[in-house]
Amino acid sequence: MSFSIPDTTGLGKDSLYATLAAQADGLLAGERDPWANAANVAALVYALLPDLNWAGFYFLRGGELVVGPFQGLPACVRIAPGRGVCGSAAVARRTLVVEDVHAFPGHIACDAASRSEIVVPLLDGERLVGVLDLDSPQPARFDAADAAGLERIAARLAAGCDWRLAGIDGYA
Ligand code: SME
Repeated sequence: MSFSIPDTTGLGKDSLYATLAAQADGLLAGERDPWANAANVAALVYALLPDLNWAGFYFLRGGELVVGPFQGLPACVRIAPGRGVCGSAAVARRTLVVEDVHAFPGHIACDAASRSEIVVPLLDGERLVGVLDLDSPQPARFDAADAAGLERIAARLAAGCDWRLAGIDGYA
């Protein structure tokens, strides 16, 4: 397979996320392995969205969020539910948009360059699988349009995997 990145120059966020969703559908089609799909979605998001320095996943394993496939610098491996932006979004089960990570109590700095962050919970029905986490070196990089677009991607990934294959809490 050879993957080519579409030209997204000049696209507004709605069109950009529509392109991202279509590309994600293509990557997920015919494959239900969680690690394979999460790895490709992390790479896709990092390649298509501008001004990111980290994009990837934490998955709920053994009661903690454990780092999964990602693009960017090496990151902290385990995050307890309720800790940092990731753990807070996981417990709240809702998207958190953080305009200034230095102003977020308990923010966990993995890359000192990060200035803003968005974390989207990954829900398979009622079950929390993990979170999608994006960091940017730009302050206030993420807004409601990013939240809506990334929630679509998270929903596609959640529905497009057989999570029993991945040792994620809550799956026999
Ligand atoms: N900043 C996150 C930790 C993960 S890294 O950004 C990749 C947090 O506060 O949960």
